[in-house]
Amino acid sequence: MVSKAGRWWRSAVVYQVYIRSFADSSGDGVGDIAGLRSRLPYLAGLGIDALWINPWYPSPMRDGGYDVADLRGIDPSFGTLLEAEAMIREAHGLGLRVLLDLVPNHVSDQHAWFREALAAGRAGSGSSARARFLFRDGRGPAGAEPPNDWTSNFGGSAWTRVTDPDGRPEQWYLHLFAPEQPDLDWTNREVQDEFAAVMRFWFDLGVDGFRIDVAHGLAKAEGLPDLGETEWPPGADGRLGHPHWDRDEVHAIYRSWRALADEYDDPRVFVGEAWVHDSERLARYVRSDELHTAFNFDFLLAPWDAEPMRRSIETTLRTHEAVGAAPTWVLSNHDTVREVSRYARPQGVRRLLKLDDVLALPADRPAGLRRARAAALLMLALPGGAYIYQGEELGLPEVEDLPDEALRDPVWALSGHAERGRDGCRVPIPWSGPAPPFGFSPVAADAAPWLPQPASWRELTVEAQTGADGSTLELYRRALAVRREHPALGDGHLTWLCMPAGALAFVRDPGFGCIVNFSAADSVPIPPDAAPLLASGSLTQDRRVPQDTAVWLTLDQSTAKRA
Ligand code: GLC
Repeated sequence: MVSKAGRWWRSAVVYQVYIRSFADSSGDGVGDIAGLRSRLPYLAGLGIDALWINPWYPSPMRDGGYDVADLRGIDPSFGTLLEAEAMIREAHGLGLRVLLDLVPNHVSDQHAWFREALAAGRAGSGSSARARFLFRDGRGPAGAEPPNDWTSNFGGSAWTRVTDPDGRPEQWYLHLFAPEQPDLDWTNREVQDEFAAVMRFWFDLGVDGFRIDVAHGLAKAEGLPDLGETEWPPGADGRLGHPHWDRDEVHAIYRSWRALADEYDDPRVFVGEAWVHDSERLARYVRSDELHTAFNFDFLLAPWDAEPMRRSIETTLRTHEAVGAAPTWVLSNHDTVREVSRYARPQGVRRLLKLDDVLALPADRPAGLRRARAAALLMLALPGGAYIYQGEELGLPEVEDLPDEALRDPVWALSGHAERGRDGCRVPIPWSGPAPPFGFSPVAADAAPWLPQPASWRELTVEAQTGADGSTLELYRRALAVRREHPALGDGHLTWLCMPAGALAFVRDPGFGCIVNFSAADSVPIPPDAAPLLASGSLTQDRRVPQDTAVWLTLDQSTAKRA
């Protein structure tokens, strides 16, 4: 019993479960599979089509599970493989598809392959165990300098030098992220075969697809040349010059994965996490024989303003249509500042991804929430699929005042405490009750939630918002219910309507309209022959749409024709 037949991913609303922070059933303060199972009815009731579960594999958790020690297992803190299978079955029974997170760029330094590579020692520097990774000799006298000038995404050099059992320094290995996340060499046949086998393992268990972590990072330029002056994002002429981001060689990998996914009767699907320069580059990942979908981060980064939003939407629609793919809209995830807090800041600053950038700007919190609610209606009305990050449906803000000692993101330590990192969007979900842990953990839990929840979240729990007039949760429930039923929504096309500066409006066939007033000082009138279906905030008494508000409309034929 699956909600949308055929190419379901083109319209799907996928809910991102950051499993460590979703629901804890064991009482250790960390979310788990049993917790997720207990909340599946909530997710089904929300009206989503699928889940994407962040990494749940055995992991030392140096990067929240993105340091995978065993690609075919479940971390004991989350449960067992049997529980995972049961969860997948139950989700399917409720009409929900299940996507996992595949982390192909790197593994944990505790993965058997990396241990083997270290054990091979200097004598084994040309060994097959080391060839799965990017081990190189250092530069300069005694090889004391890293092999090139690449930097880790989390700060510092992208190279770490290993020492032999006698403590003598030997080769270096590449890690685009934390030192505990050694990069794999994707030109290596064994690496390619292993990931194909891993995908089959999970597909055969019933998993419907994968989100591909760092999809733009797998291929490295031959010879690992210095980055030098290469800019990122690169300018138009230097696009392909980057030695490890968005290289053309990645596409052959995705073509082989697509062929594998298509072997299944009910084809399995992919969504790529590809941070690339522009929409044209992104569309290359979703060509018809590559990934099915890819997160549209351009939309996530667009400021809350009519013109840049329209440009982002138009470009996305054009570039995706050119390759026959459906866009995938997204407003936040476990790596970005929650949109309630981003939109609370002065807009026009394109890069509000990092908490430190956000904290530097004054906040208008009520405006942030109004805009986030309007953005949700905008996103869910656009042609294509959409992702909702857990807590988005509750209007959760970023937790901006986590004490230093609570911070767990490796970014904090690796940046020398210069960047606070991503913990503020990973705080456990408030389900019920007047005080932490707000139903996240059982009443008699042994441990507090792994990140502290603000006391003010008592007003934002699922329980507090359920049935509450005007709550963000009820807005999402209603919007998703309308979206499931309305023939105009999901995959398809839109037609823009003329609007005053600061507002956008479009219609979709049959009989659907959406108006978003970003900043038009005069509220925007609703056409006389249109009836409001759902609004993100109050309309004026004379049926006009005020600033920071979106409204969905039912249109009669004449409005549709005027378009
Ligand atoms: C992706 C993940 C992020 C992780 C990184 C390294 O960007 O979303 O959380 O830290 O990859 O795996």
